[in-house]
Amino acid sequence: MDWGIQNRLNRLIQKDGKALFLPVDHGYFQGPTRKLEKPGETIKPLIQYADAVMLTRGVLRNCVDPAIEKPVILRVSGGNSVVGDDLSNEGQITSITEILRLNASAVSMSIYVGSKHEHQTLMNFARLVDQCEDYGIPVMAVTAVGRELKKRTARYLGLCSRIAAELGARVVKTYYCEEDFDKVVDGCPVPVVIAGGPKVDTALEVFEFVYDGLQKGAIGVNLGRNVWQHQYPVAMIRAIRGVIHENLTPKEAQQLFDQVKAGKA
Ligand code: 5RP
Repeated sequence: MDWGIQNRLNRLIQKDGKALFLPVDHGYFQGPTRKLEKPGETIKPLIQYADAVMLTRGVLRNCVDPAIEKPVILRVSGGNSVVGDDLSNEGQITSITEILRLNASAVSMSIYVGSKHEHQTLMNFARLVDQCEDYGIPVMAVTAVGRELKKRTARYLGLCSRIAAELGARVVKTYYCEEDFDKVVDGCPVPVVIAGGPKVDTALEVFEFVYDGLQKGAIGVNLGRNVWQHQYPVAMIRAIRGVIHENLTPKEAQQLFDQVKAGKA
């Protein structure tokens, strides 16, 4: 692997081989998402516990201090919206020049396998990989399902993840599924990080699916709403970090969460 791309990947994936990415890119199609109305404020107390932050160029430029020390994963697909016809109708929204100018450590783009715009999003993805590999920028695939959350089976996620890797993804972000998640990871020749999806009911549920996903081979998470939409976002991210980088069990993560929440850690 070229030095540049390896160096950028090393900034994202830590020495223990694990990673905690904090995505705040949701506004690119959802607008001012709850608790992300002011993304700069949302990330301020959390960023120190993340290994990288994922966002669009607009939020990066306007809401994030350029002195930030954490690597940036730039979301470069979009052109759709929650009130539009079809979420899968995405294109590349940021040029390679801009990606370099903004000093991105990686970029991310959604692919919509099985959707009306499958071909378009896969071709966009392959072209982006060509542009970015020339400059040593890793591309992370986001296996998107739009509104069809029920699609999240191992068979479907395994298909999407493998296709993304075959097209040149250096990292694949996909959803966790309770059944056969190990098959999703095993069929994907590049590292897999788990996306969160809509906020679940309890903190423990998050710790459990992160823990289980890691046992089954994922290298970490790209978790947004289950962190910053929680009433105690700092306790959430610190407990999730514990599962990822300190091998905490879900029960131990819950204990850490309770301590941070109570101001005792
Ligand atoms: C939104 C994204 C997010 O990065 C991804 O869905 C992870 O965030 P969450 O945990 O909130 O689902 O790609 O466009």
